[in-house]
Amino acid sequence: MLKGKHIILGISGGIAAYKSAALLRLLVKAGAEVQVIITPNGKEFITPVTLSALSGKPVISEFFTANSGEWHSHVDLGLWADLMIIAPATASTIAKMANGVADNMLITTYLSAKEHVMIAPAMDLDMWAHPSTQRNIRTLEQDGVEVISPADGELASHLVGKGRMEEPENIVKCIKAFFERNNVSEASLAGKKVMITAGPTYEKIDPVRFIGNFSSGKMGFAIAEEFAQRGADVTLVTGPVSLDVKHPRIKRISIESALEMYETAVQTAPECDVAVFAAAVADYRPETCNQTKIKREKGEAPVIKLVKNPDIAAACGKLKKDGQIFVGFALETDNELANAREKLDKKNLDIMVLNSLRDAGAGFATDTNKVTIITENSEMQFPLKSKVCVAADIVNTVQGLLTH
Ligand code: C5P
Repeated sequence: MLKGKHIILGISGGIAAYKSAALLRLLVKAGAEVQVIITPNGKEFITPVTLSALSGKPVISEFFTANSGEWHSHVDLGLWADLMIIAPATASTIAKMANGVADNMLITTYLSAKEHVMIAPAMDLDMWAHPSTQRNIRTLEQDGVEVISPADGELASHLVGKGRMEEPENIVKCIKAFFERNNVSEASLAGKKVMITAGPTYEKIDPVRFIGNFSSGKMGFAIAEEFAQRGADVTLVTGPVSLDVKHPRIKRISIESALEMYETAVQTAPECDVAVFAAAVADYRPETCNQTKIKREKGEAPVIKLVKNPDIAAACGKLKKDGQIFVGFALETDNELANAREKLDKKNLDIMVLNSLRDAGAGFATDTNKVTIITENSEMQFPLKSKVCVAADIVNTVQGLLTH
């Protein structure tokens, strides 16, 4: 899949630079043409000789080659590349990228890059967790940079935490997934109708209070964007979230409670080719909603009686016809695979996306997710990725099952 692809491998100055040699080798073995650009500090960690031997090309670090005066054009490099991956991306390189501080060849090339850019950050856990780094990461994500989140584990400092650069094999998986997404034509889902449920539901106790959950809606919104980008007409039924829809082919229906989501979903899903149930629906609601605000009485605290909400995915699953593909999510704490498979069956779905609460960075309110995608005949485990990339993996799986 990487045959003939032009990839810029940027290396900045961190201990994890030693892993870049393995990454480079995997990329070259997969058929890619790789141009290495290393920062001056990067050269303190790995030598250009190793990298040029592996890539079969001179390594670029400075704006000029000192003895010949040859100028390296960051603009030409930016245009040449099909993809730029910076691994490791240090806190300093990330900060420079986020702020356009073009004081080395790597950052000038980044600013000239027309194609997709990915970074695999690597740093000590406190540097990664620092608000400044996290702010810069958010900025880069908003700028369209794909962040391959660092893994948990022992760091060069011998401290244990999040900050290890993702393993080269997993980075290559993300790169392959990017090209796979890119190969899927823009209009490959043209004419298909898709319904997605997203976000939390709010179950009213009285006019000012509710029972809810921490779902941000990010996963469902990312799936909606991905389907729309591939040409589908999307209806996004969403609970209260602070997200905006970007693509014009997404019709947003905002609801508040599980019952409202249920009404809309059971009407919409039967008309669709695909339905994705990504909402975190409250399992229970107060039996009654007080007409007025419940006062703080001097006596006993009020007891709120709860009743069960309908299972929206299961109700739609019952109405499913041949050819329709329905997708559910499972967030499990134990016996993950077995429980997820049971839900796939019980709710009459075709795909179950399993996220385990054991994985840091997966699940509610994060920008990343680590999932296993389960179908009747297969199980695919993916590394921690941005929700945008997870959405692409989910849509790829749906497309694989759709029979035109
Ligand atoms: O049974 P559980 O809540 O673990 O199932 C999760 C899946 O079912 C998710 O896809 C979720 O959106 C969906 N669901 C639903 N309505 C409910 C509860 C869950 O659609 N009331």
